[in-house]
Amino acid sequence: MTKTFYITTPIYYPSGKLHIGSAYTTIACDVLARYKRMMNYDVFYLTGLDEHGQKIQQKAEEAGITPQEYVDGMAVGVKDLWQLLDISYDKFIRTTDDYHEKVVAQVFERLLEQGDIYLGEYSGWYSVSDEEFFTESQLAEVYRDEEGNVIGGVAPSGHEVELVSEESYFFKLSNYADRLTAFFKEHPEFIQPDGRMNEMLKNFIEPGLEDLAVSRTTFTWGVKVPSDPKHVVYVWIDALINYITALGYGQDEHGNFDLFWQNDENHEIIHMIGKDILRFHSIYWPIILMALDLPLPTRLVAHGWFVMKDGKMSKSKGNVIYPEMLVERFGLDPLRYYLMRSLPVGSDGTFTPEDYVARINYELANDLGNLLNRTVAMINKYFGGQVPKFEKYSHEEQVKMEDGSWETVYPPARTLELYSDATVSAYCKFMERVDFPKALDRVWSLINQANKYIDKTEPWKLGNTNNKSDIEKLEEVMSHLVASLRVIAYLIHPFMVKTSNKILDQLGMEKIDSKRKSKVNLFDGKKFLKFDNISPNLTVVSKGTPIFPRLDMDEEIAYIQSQMNAGKPQEKEWNPEEVDLKSEKDQIKFDDFDKVEIRVAEVKEVEKVEGSDKLLRFRLDAGDGEDRQILSGIAIFYPNEQELVGKKLQVVANLKPRKMMKKYVSQGMILSAEHDGKLTVLTVDPSVPNGSVIG
Ligand code: MSP
Repeated sequence: MTKTFYITTPIYYPSGKLHIGSAYTTIACDVLARYKRMMNYDVFYLTGLDEHGQKIQQKAEEAGITPQEYVDGMAVGVKDLWQLLDISYDKFIRTTDDYHEKVVAQVFERLLEQGDIYLGEYSGWYSVSDEEFFTESQLAEVYRDEEGNVIGGVAPSGHEVELVSEESYFFKLSNYADRLTAFFKEHPEFIQPDGRMNEMLKNFIEPGLEDLAVSRTTFTWGVKVPSDPKHVVYVWIDALINYITALGYGQDEHGNFDLFWQNDENHEIIHMIGKDILRFHSIYWPIILMALDLPLPTRLVAHGWFVMKDGKMSKSKGNVIYPEMLVERFGLDPLRYYLMRSLPVGSDGTFTPEDYVARINYELANDLGNLLNRTVAMINKYFGGQVPKFEKYSHEEQVKMEDGSWETVYPPARTLELYSDATVSAYCKFMERVDFPKALDRVWSLINQANKYIDKTEPWKLGNTNNKSDIEKLEEVMSHLVASLRVIAYLIHPFMVKTSNKILDQLGMEKIDSKRKSKVNLFDGKKFLKFDNISPNLTVVSKGTPIFPRLDMDEEIAYIQSQMNAGKPQEKEWNPEEVDLKSEKDQIKFDDFDKVEIRVAEVKEVEKVEGSDKLLRFRLDAGDGEDRQILSGIAIFYPNEQELVGKKLQVVANLKPRKMMKKYVSQGMILSAEHDGKLTVLTVDPSVPNGSVIG
């Protein structure tokens, strides 16, 4: 029976150009898909785009086009990128695809009918950038007004949140909390890396799962709820369902769903995700599946992030790295190799131009490139390009030790054979665990072992004699090098498809096609990875071209750096005629501003307010006949508050009065400027009369 393997990337928001972060996940899934195809699994690899939601609607508005036009344009760019990166996906889903939208609507209605979803009122914080709801306690930072009321805040991702108050449908997650906990306990391997499951249990499940708002009414770009069309389905519910609609769930053509959405010893479902979206995949998604009576995935693999030396990638810092530039300059395989080797499982990794260039020079050009070059050159030189017949080393040598005992000594050829077998089994173990850096470490130690084998056996000396046993030794060395390179080419194949095939080609061997679905038993990786599985009568190419160029380190590092800075918004030359009318979301009209009455007011009296560290109470003359009282939270910035008496300040004079500290009415607001967390009141030239209107 053919085993199946279903692998998915998150579906990305097409809200901007994708950087190496998304390229990382997509390449990682590609590596797994190709590896599993090599191991003769029937593979289905899904990727796509998450095209609904408030963020996308806003982006389209900024661009002055419809959301559909916006996502259509972005989808072209993303598909081009995956083609450039040689991604072997079997399907590309877009949440605006008809078939997907229909099923999302059906699923929503079914959950409503089942009583899993009910209508309520949502009031809380929302981060549009993350498309995520937060309770106050989940915010990384909260902003408060003078009375301590929360007026805003920042999500853990660093994005600002806004207050949302609207009618909303809710999913009663708590109905499934016990089943989810039981599932976690029975499947400790469900979330990788290990500690993360506990994090989910401790932070979200054990304190009691809160019902999730699953619809929005304040914008329209989404799947409409059929029975109540002023609601659109919350973008995360819409998005998660992609993993089954892409296979045909709820549609006439559901063959792939029947085949791939199974979870047992012959069927694996793996979702590869970033650590920031684990909550959605480990809590909401399993609960949706439980509500639909469907099997749960086999495993969630949550990887860390690629960050830069100065923190998260951001355009304004000028540290964003786009994959296109690296491919154009250095070729595709170094990028795939670098990304897969440099991000340790489960934690963040730092991208540095220095590392990038060093890995190409040392690991690709030196270690791997040289091994191939030397081997091909020597076979041409000593055997006219004909690879000597491979014979497995069969006789160990017995050596008498000083104490008279005998010990088995493995000659170098045998050592290499054993090393290769051990590498293959460690590699397979690490590939199954999605630990790519360790799998590649093993391959590189085999490469180094093969290079050492050359140094140890000194073929250039063997080739200089006519001695029969030397010639035989030389044959053994060359055939063992070719055998090692063949295994190495197979092992690196999922990571560096082109390089792998170039190596096989230079050795006169058949190339690997890991893109096609391996339904037939043509491609049994385990068999192919055996050291001695090498066909006779091979001829290497007469002149091997280097597979990786050696780079000038300083020049290339400077190049990458310059490209990163090129993305930084540049200071434009000021041209008064080019100032445009572009309208931004939070701008107000002149009439709105005109409602605010700002006046010059002189401080008559000021004192600290008892019971408050922050507040000062002012008596001011704002030119309206009667003095005014204003309480202002600036006490800590004016420890010597009497210095303010006689100063002329700017106050908002028509602000609705309110009572503060239970006994004082505050009749306005004193304007001050904020800088580095400090407040300084705005003063006016003493010659300006009290009450003058500012505007
Ligand atoms: N649309 C949702 C996913 C829905 S899946 C049903 C989403 N999209 S995203 O475009 O914002 O992010 C997609 C993935 O990119 C996430 O897994 C996120 O962790 C990953 N990354 C974003 N920046 C990254 C790095 N700098 N490094 C590695 N991965 C990063 O969330």
